[in-house]
Amino acid sequence: MTTTHEAKRYWDAAETVLLRGGHLIDPASDLDERRDLFLRRGRIEAIAPEIAREADLTVDLNGIVCAPGFGDLHVHLREPGSEDAETIESGTRAGAIGGFTRLGAMPNTNPPIDGRGLVEFLIRRAAEAGHARVFPVAAATKGRDGCELTEMRELQTAGAVAVSDDGSPVAHAQVMRRVLEYARTWDLLVITHAEELDLSRGGVMNEGYWSTVLGLRGMPAAAEDIAIARDVRLAELTGARLHVAHISTRRGVEIVREAKARGIKVTGETAPHYLSLTDESLISYDPVFRVNPPLREEEDRQALLAGIRDGTIDIIASDHAPHTQQAKDQELEAVPPGMIGLETVLGVTLEYLHHREGIALSRIVRLLATGPAEIAGWGGGRIRLGEDADLTIFDPAAAWTVDPEAFASKSRNCPFREWRLRGQVRMTVCGGHVTHAEKLTFSPSERLQSQLL
Ligand code: DOR
Repeated sequence: MTTTHEAKRYWDAAETVLLRGGHLIDPASDLDERRDLFLRRGRIEAIAPEIAREADLTVDLNGIVCAPGFGDLHVHLREPGSEDAETIESGTRAGAIGGFTRLGAMPNTNPPIDGRGLVEFLIRRAAEAGHARVFPVAAATKGRDGCELTEMRELQTAGAVAVSDDGSPVAHAQVMRRVLEYARTWDLLVITHAEELDLSRGGVMNEGYWSTVLGLRGMPAAAEDIAIARDVRLAELTGARLHVAHISTRRGVEIVREAKARGIKVTGETAPHYLSLTDESLISYDPVFRVNPPLREEEDRQALLAGIRDGTIDIIASDHAPHTQQAKDQELEAVPPGMIGLETVLGVTLEYLHHREGIALSRIVRLLATGPAEIAGWGGGRIRLGEDADLTIFDPAAAWTVDPEAFASKSRNCPFREWRLRGQVRMTVCGGHVTHAEKLTFSPSERLQSQLL
């Protein structure tokens, strides 16, 4: 077994690498079968059922899945401003361990990502760290204050893949209309954090049976539904591309489904915690379960599963939202909402969608790799000859126990502590380079071995 450090040493020294016996799943090219991959200096030179060429380095995959590198369109990296909770270095390292090669970084930092310099800063910092590519989702309004639009074109040319005030909604419909109109000019994606604040303000959990039983202030599902409906209608009015972040409600799924059927350019996202948890978790009063939008009811969870089955939900994103122990160690009313997720996305998704619901692995790869690439337009999301390898290799059956203390993330606010999950990343290859490897055997040729002595 080779550690990430050793794997990188072998890999970078090898001119050629053979990834042997993997189950290649690439929805973009309709591939779902055994394939060998032959790489030269990180670039894919051959893809075939069996490749009998000598390589400097051979990695036996023994039937585990080899997919396009995963992309997560919704992460909070906290830098600049809250480096005690996460940094670009620690967050991207957590991403690599979770199988991600591309991360969309939300703008609710301090200061918010609302200018060219900050967009460039994020991209540069991630490149220096070398664990994953970061694509800023820049603020839609200056300071994320919901009033004045940002210089979107400038942000886009600096490298932003979308605009959003995520963390908060764009509260005023007229401002949102202008955001969408302006973004449309540049075919820039707009991501909505859909929340009608007049209805949700003061709530700490979903409004329903459990909030009543527990005596906690609720946020009604209607607060989300109304905001999704508003923004879908504004997307129709303006012709802009709208992506609905972290959908958690049954009606939210229905509104997006209907909008798609009517030809509105809208895409939908949900997060692993909405597929695996409900508001009943708050029975513990544990602040780790406070998140926005809040965990909903079983019927919402079922509707999200249906949305995944019929394609209404296009992608799964972690909404990785790190908070320090100190921030989370208060009564529910005072804690900031949010859960970390980068290192558990695959395990929770495979456990809840594939193992328990029988959803095909190819659909899951689409939700985690192909879909994000199509929506964000950030490249990758496919396995092609002549391109740099960008891969997530995972064992869908490997069982493991979640131990947040061992995470690369600087924060520990993980709701899945001690859960048994099936599905674990074995190797991440980003832009031709290994960024994470575990429990795989790297076999160097004699030549490479002597070269490295
Ligand atoms: O739970 C959440 N946490 N929801 C958000 O919208 C923001 C996020 C954060 O930044 O912590």
